[in-house]
Amino acid sequence: MPTILITGGHSGIGVECSKLLASKYHFNLILAGRSPEKMETFAMELRNTYERKVHVLKIDTSSLASVRAGADECRKMLDLSDIDPLQAIICNAGVRLNGKVSYTEDGYEQTFATNYLGHVLLIELLIDRIAKNGRIVLTSSGTHDPDTTDGKMMGIAAEYDAIELANTGKNGTKPVSNGKLYATSKLNMILYAYELDRRLKRADIPLSSIAYDPGATSGTGFLRNMPKPVQWLAGSSLMHWVMKRSGVTMGDVIFSGKSLARIAADPAYANVSGKYFQSNDGKLIERQSSKLSYDKQRAEKLWNDTKTLIHLQSNEASIRLR
Ligand SMILES: NC(=O)c1ccc[n+]([C@@H]2O[C@H](COP(=O)([O-])OP(=O)(O)OC[C@H]3O[C@@H](n4cnc5c(N)ncnc54)[C@H](OP(=O)(O)O)[C@@H]3O)[C@@H](O)[C@H]2O)c1
Repeated sequence: MPTILITGGHSGIGVECSKLLASKYHFNLILAGRSPEKMETFAMELRNTYERKVHVLKIDTSSLASVRAGADECRKMLDLSDIDPLQAIICNAGVRLNGKVSYTEDGYEQTFATNYLGHVLLIELLIDRIAKNGRIVLTSSGTHDPDTTDGKMMGIAAEYDAIELANTGKNGTKPVSNGKLYATSKLNMILYAYELDRRLKRADIPLSSIAYDPGATSGTGFLRNMPKPVQWLAGSSLMHWVMKRSGVTMGDVIFSGKSLARIAADPAYANVSGKYFQSNDGKLIERQSSKLSYDKQRAEKLWNDTKTLIHLQSNEASIRLR
């Protein structure tokens, strides 16, 4: 059976997604992430329960070197037929940081690098290995859209360009807030998903690029960097009620995970490239994303700036998309 690679597939929303991919859709899996021990425990559970091939691949999405090493390893496994052909890549890993701005070993701001940049490099390095009619799914968030309640919750997505974001707070300048950095990383995921879709279509390459928002979902590790009282409050039924009444897009760890699996694997989502889906209150719906996310000039600039930041060498670009 073909293989699906998922980042962060061993926790939170990723768990339910991985389970459904293995059980209902019969895919083999590559669990990609920075914590091999945690992933191995879950991989074993999947192997034993669903009798699928499940590989663990060390990839820290905040490190360009780690993404390069992980992609190399994946290509080798494909070449040696250790894994069956790649049918989809799900870019699900993500963090919402708290506290002082921090930088990766590459010198880039952590949220931007982890949520966005590492995933783009992973796609760039493996896109030529995705089977015909395969899919790339990019997990975003309703917080990317300043015109919604979700978008006002954490901090309004910023209009800074990628180079500024990667270097925010350097040389004595005031850094962009953590909430804004998160929302903006998720705006970038959608801008990139749409730009990738346009370029795939122009090149007549039969792959899909789809953006997804799981909705505000408690019971995951998402708020692990926030103070304990905030974590407790966010998981309470009172807060759930308040958020729902205020118009926040409400996810659910099981439904949102299963929805991610459906977008990546279900035949019903075979022709939805360039679209944005949201899990909201038990329904998976196609939505308009923010106004900014449809700005083609912004997307093209992001595409080019991203290439600069990931230092993509000409011998690495697996497909040249214009
Ligand atoms: N929960 C929500 O309300 C919500 C709403 C909208 C969007 N989302 C998005 O949904 C996705 C899944 O989040 P979740 O709620 O399921 O939270 P989660 O349980 O914390 O899952 C996040 C995953 O990302 C992985 N990860 C973090 N940093 C990484 C890195 N540097 N390299 C590789 N993997 C890394 C984590 O791995 P470790 O175990 O190693 O930390 C974990 O598996 C995220 O992209 C999040 O932004 C969540």
